[in-house]
Amino acid sequence: MSDLHRRNFIKGAAVLSGAAICGVATASNAKAAQTLPENFEPPAMPWGYQELDPEYVRKLGHLGYYLEECGGGSFWAIMTALKEKIGYPYNLIPLPTKEEFIDHLSGKSKGKHYQGIMQHGVGGVADYGSLCGAPNGAAAAITFAFPFADVKSIVKRLMRYYETEAFPNAKSNEYAINKEFYPPKYKSGKSLPRSPSHSVLCHVSVGKWCETSGYASGSKERSERCARVTGDVAAMAVTLLNAHLKGNIETVFPLKLSQDTVSCRVCHFKGKKFEAGQFTRGSMECSSCHNDMTPHMGENKLKTAYGTDVGTWAGAAVVGTVAGIGTHAVAGRFSKEDPHDEE
Ligand code: HEC
Ligand code: HEC
Repeated sequence: MSDLHRRNFIKGAAVLSGAAICGVATASNAKAAQTLPENFEPPAMPWGYQELDPEYVRKLGHLGYYLEECGGGSFWAIMTALKEKIGYPYNLIPLPTKEEFIDHLSGKSKGKHYQGIMQHGVGGVADYGSLCGAPNGAAAAITFAFPFADVKSIVKRLMRYYETEAFPNAKSNEYAINKEFYPPKYKSGKSLPRSPSHSVLCHVSVGKWCETSGYASGSKERSERCARVTGDVAAMAVTLLNAHLKGNIETVFPLKLSQDTVSCRVCHFKGKKFEAGQFTRGSMECSSCHNDMTPHMGENKLKTAYGTDVGTWAGAAVVGTVAGIGTHAVAGRFSKEDPHDEE
């Protein structure tokens, strides 16, 4: 079947059930499965991107959380906006419509159960407390839009946004108070306290927020906070995607790691020189977990880094003197291209 024919066929089939593509035809979508040509194959990724409205996606993300939590919610929000804007091939993905979700929350589809792609991201992957589902789900959606090298640059910025933003965003609080969010009844309609977590972990993000706000992790307010976080992260993902499309992502969101992290990454990054500290990887905020710098000052198992005594140099780095020079050099390189890029 030529591409052109396939395209027309898909359009004719309206919104296809993705379950059919996977061959898991249930009674309700068996009809769609029957009409698919036997040799049908979805197109290879990436599927492309067109500018989306971040505020619309913020509201979708909030709604998505109510049915599929943070991971499913942010994925659903971005993919739904893409499906509405671009259509094929985004309509190959199983995505209930916004109206279906709202109807369900209004009690119009009792007994119906929704399960979404990336829903496993809930509570830091199946409630395990690791990576927050909101950036996880959004990253999966971003992966559909652009070639993977671009995806990495966009997702890293989204992770950094997550570490630094005081959630929930003021816009989200405003939408809740003005009843602009889609769910017919909110878990909480209040303006909620805002706090940054300096971590991408659900465990830290929820814990710090609970500590700041005084709400328990099992409270309706905490759940509503996470619905708003889902919207905020989906909105930022789309802001970054729009910027990337226009070629100005560096202006819209320059990747600035914390001063601490940059100072650690002078030595600790994914590299080949073990003795110099290159036995780690990653760009998370180091100081959210590492405070005790005594290993650098005491008798080291590894005596030197770049020929300098690690104890003295890293000790100085911690009080921010000598490493300031190294830090500066690394920060400069960061703004162009991450020199210690992870593969
Ligand atoms: C000048 C290079 C350098 C800088 C800067 C540096 N480190 Fe290290 N670090 C090392 C080296 C080399 C080792 C290995 C020392 C050893 O095991 O004897 C090490 C070891 C460590 C260890 C492991 C300690 C252990 O018990 O095995 C941790 C954790 C660590 N660094 C964290 C950090 C953090 C966090 C920062 C930033 C605040 C930082 N380092 C900055 C070079 C550096
Ligand atoms: C979410 C918490 C967390 C963050 C954030 C974090 N680390 Fe670690 N790091 C750990 C844990 C846990 C270990 C393993 C136990 C240990 O050695 O203390 C570790 C180990 C290390 C080690 C020792 C080598 C190893 O693999 O055991 C180094 C060096 C290190 N981290 C550097 C860094 C640097 C640099 C950053 C920031 C770019 C960073 N860490 C961010 C938790 C974290």
